[in-house]
Amino acid sequence: MKVDTEKCTGCGLCARDCFTGDIKMSSGKAKIRNITCFKCGHCIAVCPVNAITTDEYDMHEVKEYSKEKFDIDPENLLNFIKFRRSVRQFKSIDVAKDKLEAIIEAGRFTQTGGNLQDVSYTVVRENLEEIKEITYETLYHMGEHTLANPSPENESHRMYAKMWVDMYRKYRDNPAENDKLFCNAPAIIITTAFSDVNASLASSNMELMANALGLGTFFSGFFVRAVAVNPEIREMAGVPEGKHIVTCMTIGYPDVKYRRTVPRKAADISWK
Ligand SMILES: Cc1cc2nc3c(=O)[nH]c(=O)nc-3n(C[C@H](O)[C@H](O)[C@H](O)COP(=O)(O)O)c2cc1C
Repeated sequence: MKVDTEKCTGCGLCARDCFTGDIKMSSGKAKIRNITCFKCGHCIAVCPVNAITTDEYDMHEVKEYSKEKFDIDPENLLNFIKFRRSVRQFKSIDVAKDKLEAIIEAGRFTQTGGNLQDVSYTVVRENLEEIKEITYETLYHMGEHTLANPSPENESHRMYAKMWVDMYRKYRDNPAENDKLFCNAPAIIITTAFSDVNASLASSNMELMANALGLGTFFSGFFVRAVAVNPEIREMAGVPEGKHIVTCMTIGYPDVKYRRTVPRKAADISWK
């Protein structure tokens, strides 16, 4: 991180906002020590004279704030969140690469603990059918195993076990009509990360971005469960070894229209 001392006015805003205390004021100028800095970029964002840059990232992607382009009306935002649905009916239309890139961009700019930026993305489009097949088989075996070995511990899994066995049989009978795993979506994005929280936060923003682009999504927890027990699925999907899979987002153009929001449990809040 560098300070252009010609531009720096010594206002100290960067030092005040630096979480790790890496910036000190010296002779009326900001001095970034680059010792504890974790490249969060707050100094770049807060500087009134744009005096701070970095070699670490592409500075061309920094955008100046403007009210018209950056602010969202809170009522619209909440309605957007409330109106979001898991979409499980998709048109037979592919999703263009630039749309998938825009979705990933929403993930990329999501915060990460310690600014780790540890989330990676695997986009699968080409061999989805093969991946589906092996995932169905894996879920089927997982389901059969649970049903054949009832125990108090797996009691709550029995409902899913029955569902997986049933899903597999129906899919095998008619794959085109009975795909409850990915619902015939044309693409999935798998996120991996060191931290589950980081990938989950990124995924949530990615979903909102997909909705803003007119696309529909749902998260496939079933896929994540299957891939955890069968490494062959990971290999087929092209997820690099050693990466921890957190979410699988199924994406396509919705073939269903929702007309209103849905009700939910009251928030469980403790005020003190
Ligand atoms: C972590 C997670 C895993 C999920 N796994 C699946 C899944 O495997 N298959 C599926 O059809 N929906 C899945 N869903 C979607 C939920 O069923 C859905 O979010 C929930 O029923 C509420 O519906 P809504 O998303 O339309 O509000 C998952 C959602 C989350 C957050």
